[in-house]
Amino acid sequence: MPTGLVYLALNHHQITMADSTNILSEEKDGILYLTINRESKLNALNFDTLEEIRNIFNEVSDNKNIKAVIITGSGEKAFIAGADISEIAELNELNARKFAENGQEIFSLIENCHKPVIAVVNGFALGGGCELAMACHMRIASSNAKFGQPEVNLGIIPGYGGTQRLTYLIGRGKANELMMTGDMIGAEEAKSLGLVNHVCSNKAEALDKAEEIIQKIVSKAPLAIGMIVDCVNAVYIQGENGYQTEANSFARCVKSGDYKEGTSAFLEKRKPEFKGE
Ligand code: COA
Repeated sequence: MPTGLVYLALNHHQITMADSTNILSEEKDGILYLTINRESKLNALNFDTLEEIRNIFNEVSDNKNIKAVIITGSGEKAFIAGADISEIAELNELNARKFAENGQEIFSLIENCHKPVIAVVNGFALGGGCELAMACHMRIASSNAKFGQPEVNLGIIPGYGGTQRLTYLIGRGKANELMMTGDMIGAEEAKSLGLVNHVCSNKAEALDKAEEIIQKIVSKAPLAIGMIVDCVNAVYIQGENGYQTEANSFARCVKSGDYKEGTSAFLEKRKPEFKGE
């Protein structure tokens, strides 16, 4: 497998989920469980792992059997302890921009996925790990989770969207503090800042909580869920009129069979059966 900058320069080849070596993937009852599986390196994201994420999310969009995604890290200690520093240490001025743009592009695939994506943060979520968690639609943390953007310790800044998403999520003052100091915060503080939706006592309970939320979401109209993703993301796209996006998306929902089913089911006092059409 080519690595590093050569790999970045290649056209993205299509691998299937089964080809993933750094990510364990298992589909159960429509939920795709992705486990970043480099435990000995605290699940640090190297180039190959990032490409696997790209390929998996391209497939998630096309695969009707997958209704939601949960991302977690292997083991109990780390979700993802950042981009792989051994690769970062090899960057130069020319390829560093490409490095950042590549990660940003892959994390945008997660953020724009029309199926719910939940990060179950089971330990360190640092640097690119915090950035990946923030690209997910929601974050459920175990009580030992630690969040941070410690890039300043390496003489760099977050490059996978962290300066933007952290600021949107927790506001400018606190985002500046975390990024400028490189400090880590615990799960409860992350929750109080709005970085985390729920804190659970351990990874197993966090997975249960994520599944509970997903079960509710997948019982709703899938097209509407996708429209919510687009409209919420529109808030953060400069120059996009989010109200217009909302009105357009609302109209698209009304064209769907699920709209007819949802409204008829209410009036007929029965449970709707949505088909995603
Ligand atoms: N990239 C590459 N390897 C990493 C890594 C990363 N981001 N984070 C951890 N590792 C590796 C360590 O080098 C070590 O590997 P080794 O056993 O081959 O030496 C292994 O994972 C375990 O990490 P270690 O530092 O021994 O664990 P610890 O419990 O003492 O400390 C952390 C845990 C998370 C505090 C520490 O690993 C750390 O600060 N990691 C870097 C975090 C960071 O700066 N992330 C942003 C990168 S842009």
